[in-house]
Formats: sequence, structure tokens, C-alpha cells
Amino acid sequence: MNQSPSPKSPKPDIVGELDQLRVEIRREKASLNEALAPLEQLRYRARTAEALLKSSETLASIVLSSDAAIFSKNLEGVISSWNPAAEKLFGYTAKEVIGQSVTLLLPPNRLKEEEFIVARILQGEQISRIETERICKDGRHIPIRATFSPILDVDGKAIGFSTIAQDIAQEKMAAQALLDANKELIVENKEKEQRASELIVANEEKAKRVDELLITKDKLQASLMETIDLTRQLVELRDPFTAGHQKHVGDLAKAIAAQMGFDEVYQKGVMIAGYLHDTGKIIVPIEILCKPGKLSLEEFNLVKNHVQAGYDLLKDVTYPWPIAKAVLGHHERLDGSGYPNGLKGDQISIESRILTVADVIDAMASHRPYRAGLGIEKALAEIERGRETLYDGAVVDACLKLFRENGYKLPTSLT
Ligand SMILES: [Fe+2]
Ligand SMILES: [Fe+2]
Repeated sequence: MNQSPSPKSPKPDIVGELDQLRVEIRREKASLNEALAPLEQLRYRARTAEALLKSSETLASIVLSSDAAIFSKNLEGVISSWNPAAEKLFGYTAKEVIGQSVTLLLPPNRLKEEEFIVARILQGEQISRIETERICKDGRHIPIRATFSPILDVDGKAIGFSTIAQDIAQEKMAAQALLDANKELIVENKEKEQRASELIVANEEKAKRVDELLITKDKLQASLMETIDLTRQLVELRDPFTAGHQKHVGDLAKAIAAQMGFDEVYQKGVMIAGYLHDTGKIIVPIEILCKPGKLSLEEFNLVKNHVQAGYDLLKDVTYPWPIAKAVLGHHERLDGSGYPNGLKGDQISIESRILTVADVIDAMASHRPYRAGLGIEKALAEIERGRETLYDGAVVDACLKLFRENGYKLPTSLT
């Protein structure tokens, strides 16, 4: 290693020696590094092994503390690991099941399912969250939700599979309870629907009955009107000079009542009272009714009797309105000058006051055996003259308005 100084150079070659020394040092260092390399590799492996061990310990800790049952099997179905939650779920200790076939847990009807799972695992697939069932140590069949994952070797080949299982009995019970509750609701709803259908049928029957009653009511009303009309015509047969008089009075009385604001039911009652107001004339001899000249006092008294006679004939007939009473007052006057009872003011019913005005209008306007018709204007002038003394003011006003403003007309031949 040491070089002898050249005889031609008395001074040692310091620079060359230093270079030579550097080369020697590098060689020694390389040699040393070469010798240390296996040691570094060992250190690296030790660190890796330590990290793996730590990771495995962490994983084991997670598996041990998990509340899900976790266990593993090889491809032949032999159980190789079993965590405490699996012990709790299935009732077997790790010591009892490790090394045993997983068929220990399988109901016979699930063997095909297990075969299907193993086939998928061999292809490296994971089967997630399927719902199945297993048998516990005490023989109970429990529903579980399970995920099956392949365990791979360093070459990525499946050598077994792990199972993570959860008891879903409570969940199933809750779902069943919900289902049962729904069924009860469905039953209740069906009962309600049934009751609703029955009510609809009952209501339809009631509606039908009401329709029948309405038809009957319409028929009865039609029959009533026919009877009233027949009575009116029988009276007028004996007194051809006043033919149509009661109808005109009834129609005008109805129009006055409507003008005064009375409702339709009231209007109809007043109209019928008008149609029947001279019914009592049936007791007056025809020769008096048809006498062309002036009546004697005795004859006039006989005519006046038609009011009480009409009342007597009608009072026992049942009408929805006070027809007989209205008829009884149709010749009364506010000042007490009328007949048959000489009633005054409020003693005379409003129905009678309406009939009175309608009767005066038609009687004056139409022909009589003893005189020609006086015309509507004279008739209107008469009730206007007697307003509040003989005739009700409101009734007179309504009647005047009908003829003078609303164009109401009596049948043409009489006006
Ligand atoms: Fe009369
Ligand atoms: Fe009359």
C-alpha cells in the first residue's frame, strides 16, 4: 500500500499518496457496505414484520370486540376462527366449533345455498347482506343477515371465506308486527268500507222512499187541487153570471200576497181560499143569484148568508191553511161595516183582507145580472177610495202596484 519515493525525486509525492489513499478508503467503504447489506435487509424485514403484527393485533382486537358474529372457514367448510359475538349468537364456544364443519350451523334446506356461496367465493366474489337462517347450539333456528368474503393467499387465490353475521330476529319481529298491524288496518278499513256500503244502500233506500213520498205528496196535492176546482165549478154551475169569479179572485189574491212578500206556501193558501170563497152560495136560491134587478133586503140577507154557509161547509175540511176562517172574513170591512160579524181592523185576518180586495176588484170589473162590468179603473178607484177605512192599506197598495206598474190583468172579457 505504501509507495517508495522515486530516487529521482528526493521529495515524497504527497499528492499521489493522498489520491491513492482515497481510492483505498472508497474500496474499504464499499466492502463494508457490502458486508452490512444483509443486516439492513434484516432490519427492514423486522420493521415490516412488526407493522404486520401490529395490524393483525388491531384487526384481531376489532374482530374480538365486534358485536357482529365473525368467523372463517376453509373451502371445505371447516371452521378456523370464531369470535365472542359468534359464541353469543350461536351458543357454541370457539373451542367447540373450530375444526368442526360449518354444516353444524346449516339447516338442511340451506345446504344448496351454501354450495352456491362457496362457488361464488371461489371466483373471488363477495356476497353481501343476504338474509338466511342458521341453527344454534340449543336447536333454535334464527334469522340472520350475512356477508361472505373470500380469504385470499399471497397469489390472490381463495383459500377460505369469512362470514359476518347479525341476528335479525328483532327486526323480523318488528316487520311482522308492522305487517300484522297493517293487516288489522286493512281488516278495519274493509269493515268501514262494508259499513259505508251498507249506509249508502240504506240512504239509497231512504232516498227512494222519500221519492215515493214526494210522488205521493204531489199526487195528493194534485188531487186536492182537482177537488177544490171541482167544488168551485159546482158552485159556479148554479151562478153562470159569475162563472170564473172565484178563480179570478184566487189568482189575484195570490198575486197580491206575492207582491206583499209572502212566501209561496202562503200564496197558495190564499189562492185556494179565493177559489172557495163563495162556496156558500150553494145555499142561495138560483133565482136570487140570477135575478137581473135590484135585490130586496130579504133577498140580500139570503145572499149574505153565503159567507157563514161557506165557513160551515169548509171548517171541517182539513187544509194546511186556515181556509174556512179566511172565507168567513171576506165580506168584513176595516170600519166594522161588513158582514157577517161586523169585525173591525185587526179582528179581520190578513188572508181575509187580501180576499176582500181581490173580490171587490173582480166583482166591480165583471158583469153582473143587474149591471154591466164597471171596468178595472173604477174598481181600482174604489179600493183606493176605501184605503185604510174599508180595505187594508198594504193590500190596496200591493194591488194598485200590480195593475198600474206590473201590468197585471184580469181575463180580457171582464176588464
Ligand atoms: Fe162573497
Ligand atoms: Fe165573491
